[in-house]
Amino acid sequence: MTLPRLSFLGTGYLGATYAICFAELGYEVLGVDVDEVKIATLAGGRVPFHEPGLDDLLRRNLTAGRLRFGTSYADAAGFADVHFICVGTPQRADGMSADLTYVESAVTNLAPLLRRRALIVGKSTVPVGTATWVEQLVAKHAVPALGVEVAWSPEFLQEGYAVEDVLRPNRIVAGIKSDWAHKVFHAAHKGVFDLAATEDRDVPLVVTDFATAELVKVAANAFLATKISFINAMAEVCEVAGADVTQLARAIGYDPRIGNRFLQAGLGFGGGCLPKDIRAFQARAQELGAGEALRFLHEVDLINTRRRGRVLNVAAELLDRPVGPAGPDLSGTRVAVLGAAFKPNSDDVRDAPSLAAAAALAAAGAEVRVYDPQAMENARRAQPHLTYAPTMAAAVDAAALVVVATEWAEFRNADPVTLGDLVAARRVIDGRNCLDPAQWSRAGWTYRGMGRPPV
Ligand code: UDX
Repeated sequence: MTLPRLSFLGTGYLGATYAICFAELGYEVLGVDVDEVKIATLAGGRVPFHEPGLDDLLRRNLTAGRLRFGTSYADAAGFADVHFICVGTPQRADGMSADLTYVESAVTNLAPLLRRRALIVGKSTVPVGTATWVEQLVAKHAVPALGVEVAWSPEFLQEGYAVEDVLRPNRIVAGIKSDWAHKVFHAAHKGVFDLAATEDRDVPLVVTDFATAELVKVAANAFLATKISFINAMAEVCEVAGADVTQLARAIGYDPRIGNRFLQAGLGFGGGCLPKDIRAFQARAQELGAGEALRFLHEVDLINTRRRGRVLNVAAELLDRPVGPAGPDLSGTRVAVLGAAFKPNSDDVRDAPSLAAAAALAAAGAEVRVYDPQAMENARRAQPHLTYAPTMAAAVDAAALVVVATEWAEFRNADPVTLGDLVAARRVIDGRNCLDPAQWSRAGWTYRGMGRPPV
């Protein structure tokens, strides 16, 4: 089978990354979005978000002529054999369930325009049952005789590692119904399997029914979120018992059944996926009558948000400030918050624990100055009332307290002696347990980690 031509409907973080990486794998690719500005940016050779390595791949594949971007669904329908749905599924106003409006409009726009048999592959994170609904939409809106089919293949991209995650995934999962769909899906991923073969790796293809494929994604995210909240719950216990959660995590992580990854205690998880996905998962389970099975995810969420408030109490303790019924009063204190992105190597500030902590410190009266190596523009948009500093040095200048809220290399590798000369008082809260307490203490800093004894 010759390589199918691919369209990616929705060129946000997911769709743009996939479109660019699949062009790199040798496919002819069209990225489609209703947002003309986004399309013009991508077509002009610029990725509208920060993702290491992606800009180069974009420019190379635009130049090679394998990759283009546009706003026309008719163009997509005429061009591609396989259409990937990569539109967003934001949280509804209820704060829990997922909004499927964009999925619906992508499918109902595309389906009537199709003139030959095609495979529509859903990639967006959706509530279980969506693929079957999409199949019904296609049956209603596409010409029946064409035999257009649907498959569902969740993605597992991590921001900051997205290029690797697409080119070298640790597995591909697909809800597939027919031999034809299986054959076309395989051809649409042949580049990934071939690359693995040349590198002597194996990429398992897990073929399932629709519901299982949809659930794999949310189950994986629920597991990861639970792992993080588990270690943060241990951090809470360590704090009252005088123990060190980083040593505890290391020690339990040697057991291969537990594993040492995703056991980093700190300010908790944020971003555009984990918080939203565990809430949508609970809402859907509730609808299906299995709400009780996921009640623990409510607790996972609570543990997670509690960590953000912890910074405020540690700050009050370090600064010897009173804690009233409305919380600590930090008025008149200059605080530097280092980090705004929800994690390093990303400019994404969606549901970022760092910005939430900064906003809480400011609400308690502190004069907060925030610095981030990449996320300043997005942070300013998300939290316009906060004050931003252009450099780390400017942020910490004359500060009475430094809070490391995102573990960027720039902060991990910062010299505590040099920074010590800039601040008004050497106090640091290591919200990500990414600094060496002994090194900072030797440089005269009072150090507080998350779930670690004071130094
Ligand atoms: C996540 C999943 O990892 C990915 O598979 C899915 O497709 C989308 O959601 P991402 O949101 O990019 O990816 O970030 P991830 O690296 O998983 O981190 C999520 C959050 O958890 C970050 O805020 C990070 O700081 C936090 N985290 C992670 C911890 O607090 N401790 C850890 O040990 C690991």
